Amino acid sequence: MNIPLLIRKKRDGGILTQEEIAAFVEGYTRGSVPDYQASALLMAIYFRGLDARETADLTQAMVRSGQTLDLSGFSQPKIDKHSTGGVGDKTSLVVAPVAAAAGLLVPMISGRGLGHTGGTLDKLESIPNFNTQLSLGEFYRVLRVCSMAMAGQTAELAPADRKLYALRDVTATVESIPLISASIMSKKLAEGIDGLVLDVKAGSGAFMKQLEDARALAQRMVEIGVASGKRVRALITDMSQPLGCAVGNALEVVECLETLAGRGPQDLLQLCRELAAQMFVLGGLDTSLEAARTRFDSVLASGRPLETFGRVIAEQGGDPHVLEDYTRFPQAKWQESLVASGDGYVEELEAETIGRASMVLGAGRERVDSAIDPAVGIVFEKKVGDSVETGERLCTLHANDADRLARAKEMLRGAIAISRQPPASRPLVLERVEA
Ligand code: URA
Repeated sequence: MNIPLLIRKKRDGGILTQEEIAAFVEGYTRGSVPDYQASALLMAIYFRGLDARETADLTQAMVRSGQTLDLSGFSQPKIDKHSTGGVGDKTSLVVAPVAAAAGLLVPMISGRGLGHTGGTLDKLESIPNFNTQLSLGEFYRVLRVCSMAMAGQTAELAPADRKLYALRDVTATVESIPLISASIMSKKLAEGIDGLVLDVKAGSGAFMKQLEDARALAQRMVEIGVASGKRVRALITDMSQPLGCAVGNALEVVECLETLAGRGPQDLLQLCRELAAQMFVLGGLDTSLEAARTRFDSVLASGRPLETFGRVIAEQGGDPHVLEDYTRFPQAKWQESLVASGDGYVEELEAETIGRASMVLGAGRERVDSAIDPAVGIVFEKKVGDSVETGERLCTLHANDADRLARAKEMLRGAIAISRQPPASRPLVLERVEA
């Protein structure tokens, strides 16, 4: 394959054939296509885009670059859920145990946080000794015992994506709808699932700030899934304020355990119910969303999801006693609160700045390889729409460094707006996208 010709074709707005895309992905994975040619093609794609067929071909070529999980030995419907990422976005840790306890198989391959958004693997690693780097054999074993497993991408699954994502990260080509769609979907299709529910975030704390962009991303990913013979649906959900109250790794896991115990914040619980209900319908457990929501409530009330999560923790090497004793999580040295300077209503909790403040505390990473502090973060006592009085606590910062604490506090002051009038209520689920 003549790679410069292929780059020129895309640079000039042409449409790549399936063979051209396959040759590029194979060559890049093997190392015969160098980074400089791959970078040029990625930039051409960034500017010229890929149509639906090209994106599906890119996704399939990335799936074929490695192995696909063989889940044929499992009798349950195999349904996963994936979020495009946000601030305080922790639904996986609630939804997966509920879905597994309800009778689905959830083979969840997750990622790390980057920038102001968090990642499931970082949250799980705040559980003492929890191992997210499972071999395929270990992943199957945990699935057999728990009907779910949560781990990072192994070297065997979609290696082309691993290599391309790292290159995109350093060539300013991450923010491209076809490239994001192919990247996410290649990893999910390699899981060998029957169906997938996508939570596509829209708003300040999301990748996609605008609803139109979130819609285009959701549509493209649903198209790819359906073209691959999978049942796929997407919910576009609000990410203008953090989800739930906790932002920061150990703090978020505690909030998920509380939610599994029936004491979670309302918005987190509502979104988990909607996502799980979609999974139940895709998996054939229910024929209507209403019945699926009722199933969510009764499965959660049974206490089985919390037991399932405890079993996953133990099977993946973690300390299952965190369920009864939250002090076993890493604790920050300092806790300092921010209080309201006037009476009124919380009008805004600007998600991106809050995500960046939590990064300043050490909860998130600037670069893929930076270290994070599992103990630090922010817990909100007030959410958008809540009334506040002068001197009342708005949130508490958990910090391990005085200088970082001061900087994060200053940022948070600018991210919280209080108004005299209650703000108009915003729906959590903005749209649903299906084929
Ligand atoms: N997450 C991914 O896995 N890939 C992207 O391209 C963006 C977010």
